[in-house]
Amino acid sequence: MPESVTITDNRTGQSIEDPIVEGGVSAAEWAKLLPGIWFYDPGFSATAECESAITYIDGEAGVLEYRGYPIEELAEHSTYLEVAYLLLKGELPNQAQLSSFTSDVTTHTFIHENVKRFLEGFHYDAHPMGMLVSEVAALSTFYPEAKHIDDPAVRMDQILRLIAKMPTLAAATHRFSSGKPFVYPDDTLSFAENFLSMMWKTSEPHFQADPALVRAIDLLFILHADHEQNCSTTTMRVVGSAQADPYSACAAACAALYGPLHGGANEAVLRMLTSIGDISEVPAFVQAVKEGKGRLQGFGHRVYKNYDPRAKIIRKAAYDVFEVVGKNPLLDIALKLEETALADEYFISRRLYPNVDFYSGLIYQAMGFPVEMFTVLFAIPRTAGWMAHWNEMLESKQKIARPRQLYSGSPTRAYVPIEARDAE
Ligand code: CMC
Repeated sequence: MPESVTITDNRTGQSIEDPIVEGGVSAAEWAKLLPGIWFYDPGFSATAECESAITYIDGEAGVLEYRGYPIEELAEHSTYLEVAYLLLKGELPNQAQLSSFTSDVTTHTFIHENVKRFLEGFHYDAHPMGMLVSEVAALSTFYPEAKHIDDPAVRMDQILRLIAKMPTLAAATHRFSSGKPFVYPDDTLSFAENFLSMMWKTSEPHFQADPALVRAIDLLFILHADHEQNCSTTTMRVVGSAQADPYSACAAACAALYGPLHGGANEAVLRMLTSIGDISEVPAFVQAVKEGKGRLQGFGHRVYKNYDPRAKIIRKAAYDVFEVVGKNPLLDIALKLEETALADEYFISRRLYPNVDFYSGLIYQAMGFPVEMFTVLFAIPRTAGWMAHWNEMLESKQKIARPRQLYSGSPTRAYVPIEARDAE
């Protein structure tokens, strides 16, 4: 059987054969047969925007792999910086490569004092994600050379800077929100330890986080590092395709992540669990969702039609964290909600399962992170994925992203002077 599809224009009887390559058919072939007829796909549900060798998802089977490595194996054996290297370079580093990469990242953790001062312009109750988006965008003015995106060495410098500075910026937004002084990075600490130190350090000379919590943060960073063409990564690629500098494109990606349908869902989950309040209220809440009164936050996914493999790992990891910090009382509500939804026809027929955001907030909250910081915690590791995709997109010389539309507005009409317009 030929690996192709035949498209026939029934108006003319003309056909073309479009080969199926790597699970896709070329829109260029379609355009040859049907100039001016656009493939209508709002939300890109059935459109492959690019070719990518970074992350593989089988949504039916609940499989996620970075560069071919199953997420379960990376979660068990790897570290976030090793995973960042893997995403960027395509291979796991050897010891020397990892040491050199870690040292490169570590040298970029500090931020310019002026970046820090920007925070002072924000209102005291500014949302940390709003501050983060602005701070990342501001970085582009500090590194004007970043616009030389055709130079791989310049690109790599900005990639290292962004990966390294994200935890510093993230912690700075929290310190500002809570009225605490900024904590400078400590280059003697690991990536995750340093982040926790910048978040929580008070007067002690050297902050020492509980190793179980350090591991939990590193694990969550691994799980959030990439997820192929999600909304924020697509934003990174789209803005990057206009050859914007990486800070501007990354700020745009952060803004996309902020949305409650994307990275903002972890915050929405916690607010939902808090508003449910008691396990006895779960059935009524599920019923309300089924009646269209809101969504079950942290459930459903465009790609996964099975349990999100990241949610499975996070659910298990939550118990390790609760052993150190005590159980989050919302866990019982979450478990009951999951059990109720997974047994309900509404969720079964739509193939809605818990996604990465369903359990992550419970861990973050138990560790003391305020709810507003949850999406910021997502942005820190997703920076590695954004950067890997940005770099891949530029290396592939992708054209500027510029989709078409189906125009549904008014036909051509003559300008009407204001005196002649209907007063109604
Ligand atoms: N609760 C209740 N119903 C839902 C939910 C939900 N969480 N998600 C989807 N549905 C229903 C939806 O109403 C629709 O039903 P019907 O066919 O009767 O109209 C059907 O399932 C298909 O939903 P959809 O909106 O067409 O699916 P989508 O692929 O466009 O949206 C989604 C995917 C993740 C935006 C959506 O499932 C959702 O809003 N989930 C809640 C928010 C959330 O958890 N987001 C995090 C996503 S994973 C991490 C990340 O991307 O950052």
